[in-house]
Amino acid sequence: MLKTLANKTALVTGGSRGIGRAIAERLAADGATVAMTYSQNRAGAKDAVMAIERAGGSAFALQADLVNAEAIPALFEQLDSELANRKGSTALDIVVNNAGNSGWGGLADATPDNWNTMFAVHARAPFFIVQAALNRLADGGRIINISSAAGARPLQAVPIYSMAKAAINNLTHTLAMELGPRGITVNAVAPGWIRTDMNAAIRENADMVKMIEADTALERFGETSDIAAVVAFLASDEGRWVTAQVIEASGGYKL
Ligand SMILES: NC(=O)c1ccc[n+]([C@@H]2O[C@H](COP(=O)([O-])OP(=O)(O)OC[C@H]3O[C@@H](n4cnc5c(N)ncnc54)[C@H](OP(=O)(O)O)[C@@H]3O)[C@@H](O)[C@H]2O)c1
Repeated sequence: MLKTLANKTALVTGGSRGIGRAIAERLAADGATVAMTYSQNRAGAKDAVMAIERAGGSAFALQADLVNAEAIPALFEQLDSELANRKGSTALDIVVNNAGNSGWGGLADATPDNWNTMFAVHARAPFFIVQAALNRLADGGRIINISSAAGARPLQAVPIYSMAKAAINNLTHTLAMELGPRGITVNAVAPGWIRTDMNAAIRENADMVKMIEADTALERFGETSDIAAVVAFLASDEGRWVTAQVIEASGGYKL
């Protein structure tokens, strides 16, 4: 495979499973050194790093529970020290804000605490991760936020989640304006239904699966690699003229 990201360094939050793992694996396969984060699942992160190394890539994992605002400065301290050791530089080229907690609460069950938790991970953390990355991010770099189709087309069942994803879409736009003069592109990728732990319970219901597939132009659930492919394009030089966009990758959900 062509190493489109040779010598680049990427930070991928939530790389221990699901979409984040596929993104970490893909960016590493394309030649980047990947720092991935995890929250609780140390074994998953270790497994993802080993899979990348077995495939000839380079990666390492760092713990950060993004519900806690203090986790971000601590994460960047660890990141600086790992990158300095491995690469002799703390520079970053690509930041992928992917980590997400599920907590699929509706209006009736919502509490201020679960509202705060959802917003902390999906909206506050990406904002402060980018702030912390600013002086480490190379000119010409990339910021890619993993949003959701629900950010632009909210789902009644998950109002808090939909609001948080609308916030990341909005942030994508302001960051693109702020960082454009440095040649840094900022985009969001908005998946539809992708087969991960986040919707494992929904996938146990055969009728729900049928309904989702029937509502999808390409007539199937998405796979994590479908999202990683879009991220790889945006991260590569081929994506250089795309910024401030929310790119829905849903196989054509509810057209
Ligand atoms: N799957 C879908 O259908 C779908 C659709 C649209 C958008 N998305 C978005 O895609 C992203 C990835 O989702 P996924 O489906 O891959 O989810 P997933 O399989 O549940 O994986 C979630 C990842 O986020 C990490 N994470 C969870 N809570 C965290 C916290 N408090 N602090 C730091 N990291 C945390 C997890 O770490 P641990 O392993 O350590 O818990 C894991 O690496 C999310 O932003 C999600 O909203 C997913």
